[in-house]
Amino acid sequence: TPIDREREEQNENQDEGGREMSIREILKDGEPALSKVCHPVTQFDQKLWDLLDDLKETLAQANGVGLAAPQVGILRRAVIVMDENFEPMELVNPEIIAQEGEQNGLEGCLSVPGLWGYVKRPEWVKVRAFDRNGNAFEVEGTGLTARCFCHELAHLDGHLYTELTDRLYNSDELDELMEENEA
Ligand code: NI
Repeated sequence: TPIDREREEQNENQDEGGREMSIREILKDGEPALSKVCHPVTQFDQKLWDLLDDLKETLAQANGVGLAAPQVGILRRAVIVMDENFEPMELVNPEIIAQEGEQNGLEGCLSVPGLWGYVKRPEWVKVRAFDRNGNAFEVEGTGLTARCFCHELAHLDGHLYTELTDRLYNSDELDELMEENEA
């Protein structure tokens, strides 16, 4: 839609005239960019590197564990996922190539602030992706990292975790739930 295009250009234009604008606006649920299937990355160039750098900075500032390009209005298949040591991993054109087991746990999303829900995900996944220079690699994750791979890759196909949960909890409801579980 024209609105998407404007948004994409707006975000991309921030790069002109230097790299001072590195924290990008995180779009919220309801923005059209969040429900689009993203395009594969074909150029491993400065524009991609700027996008990956901005995603990392934006994620760090938001204290999140993962961020996908469409969340900042860029419809390209690129995500950042924090690894087990909380170091950011860059994944370009990522695909889940194997998965095992199941985990049910709470999930949130920077595009759905203040809400959480239980989502079933595989306990272990293997992902094939490209690095910023176009080199293919494989990476595995369990637990939260596996959950994060699944969550971020779903963003690239226009899906939010809210589609996979029975109900959403706000922070008060979540506190109550935790107290009930402890009792
Ligand atoms: Ni998300």
